[in-house]
Formats: sequence, C-alpha cells, structure tokens
Amino acid sequence: MSGILAGKTVLVTGIITDASIAFATAAQAQEAGAKVIITGIPERLRLINRIAKRLPHEVPDAIGLDVTDEESLAALADQVRALAPEGLDGVVHSIAFAPRTLMGPDALPFLEGPGPDVAKAFEISAWSYASLARAVLPVMNEGGSIVGMDFDPRTAVPDYNWMGVAKAALESVNRYVAREVGYAKKVRSNLVAAGPIKTLAAKAISGTATDDAKKLNMLNEYWDGASPIGWNVDDPTPVGKSVVALLSDWLPATTGSIVYVDGGASHNTWFPENMLG
Ligand SMILES: NC(=O)c1ccc[n+]([C@@H]2O[C@H](COP(=O)([O-])OP(=O)(O)OC[C@H]3O[C@@H](n4cnc5c(N)ncnc54)[C@H](O)[C@@H]3O)[C@@H](O)[C@H]2O)c1
Repeated sequence: MSGILAGKTVLVTGIITDASIAFATAAQAQEAGAKVIITGIPERLRLINRIAKRLPHEVPDAIGLDVTDEESLAALADQVRALAPEGLDGVVHSIAFAPRTLMGPDALPFLEGPGPDVAKAFEISAWSYASLARAVLPVMNEGGSIVGMDFDPRTAVPDYNWMGVAKAALESVNRYVAREVGYAKKVRSNLVAAGPIKTLAAKAISGTATDDAKKLNMLNEYWDGASPIGWNVDDPTPVGKSVVALLSDWLPATTGSIVYVDGGASHNTWFPENMLG
C-alpha cells in the first residue's frame, strides 16, 4: 500500500468509541498505508473490537491493556510480538482519565481536589506515557516514533482544572521519554496538542446536564472564533492526520516536542468582533 506510513506497523491505544481521537488516528494511519494494531481497556474489549470493525481496514482483536496495571504492561511486548513479529515503528498514547471529584458535574472546586484523586489522574494521564514507552521499547524498531495527546496547559482553562495540571506534567514526561527512547533506539517522542474534540473524555469534563453542555458549547464556539483558520469540534481528522505526520519519516529531527493542532487558537489573542467595533 502506498502512503507515508507504507511498510510501517503502528500500535494505537485509546479507542473507546468511533469519536475517540485514537479511532481517527488509527483510520488515518491505515489510509496512509500502515498496518495498525490496537489496545483497549480490558473490561471493554468486546465493545472496542466492535467499534474497530468501523475502521477502513481490518485490525486484529484489541490487546487488553490497562496502563496502571504492571502485569498488563509486562505482557504487552509479547502480545505485540505475536501480532507484529516485524516490530513497531510507531506507538500512539491516547489515554487520559480523572476521577469524578476532579472533573464533570460532580467535580469539587479546584482548591478542594483530593490528593489521592489527583494522583490517579496524574498516574493515568501523565505517568502512563512513560510506563507505555517502557513496555513497548523492547519491540520498537530503531528510528520509530511515539506520539501522545496533549491539551495546551500553558493557561488555566475553566473546568479543566487538575487535568490541565496533569497535561503540564505530561509535557515534561514527554521530554524525559524523548531522552530515554532517543538515546536507546533513536526513537522520537512528541505530543500533539489538539483543540477540543467532542469525545467521551470531553463530555466527562462538562457532564451532560444542560448548563454544563452549554459551557462546553461555549468553549467550542470560542475555539472556532479564536482560530484564524477555524476549528471544528466534530472533526478529529486533522488531529489524526497530524499524528500520522509525526509517526512518519517526515519529521525526522523532531523529538521531545509539541505540535499544536488546534487551528492556531492557542497562539492567537481573540476578542469577540463586537468588542472591536
Ligand atoms: N477530546 C478533546 O477535546 C481532547 C483535546 C486534546 C487532547 N485530548 C487527549 O486525547 C486523548 C484521548 O482522549 P479522547 O478525547 O479521544 O477521549 P476518549 O474517551 O475517546 O479516549 C480516552 C481513552 O483513555 C482510555 N483509558 C482510560 N484509562 C485507561 C487505563 N487505565 N489504561 C488504558 N487506557 C485507559 C479510555 O479507555 C479511552 O479509550 C487523551 O489524552 C485526551 O486528554 C483530548
């Protein structure tokens, strides 16, 4: 198959629905010629395999992977070898989680976020980028690429709260992972900082109550307005394509870095038009 990922094998984590950023990424990777294998949280594998049938090309059954479970992490390399003896050229980490106390309709105010819950959010959303890198490194080919998903944490965003803090940590974890995998195998490690996309995780931020949904819609409208080229929260394809670019050989000297795929909103100071007169 031709395309910028032709001849490459890519492992994609994080599919839970067909709106998942991971789903769009897996689809774009296949369209770019990659052989794709996927992982999913062990308790939802049947659902994930059903969703994966909607990808453009067939994938083997998802490997069960809970990034907080050492046994699950330790079993990953052998499971990958069984499906891809040729080794991995790319790995996508598309995983985040925060307990209900920190996000969504039942969230406590930021200052009251309980330490153990913050630690859980950090473990799944930031530390796991390193634990996944450790688990896949033995089966990664020289010169491969690892990509994680970021949401720009340089400013405080209403309701994002401790997940913003976890993303700031993820950015630092990425820089250290880049050192480890780069010196070991010339593997690159980068993040894509995506604008808001309507996924299960995004709904968890705002909840589904009318007021909360309204808030999320406001954020989405803001993003489209703040982007000089526009932003569509219903279309994860630009994010998937950009992850594919980082997985390819076309950003060969980029590592420890962040690519902003957010319509430019985070680099633009925006005032509603009526404020400018
Ligand atoms: N949706 C957005 O607006 C947006 C914007 C920027 C970045 N992101 C990031 O993109 C990534 C994917 O999120 P999404 O929006 O596609 O939502 P999603 O809900 O579709 O995906 C989140 C995934 O994390 C997985 N996960 C949670 N805990 C796990 C664990 N312990 N082990 C393994 N997997 C686990 C879930 O199963 C799910 O597949 C996340 O890192 C998220 O923070 C999302």
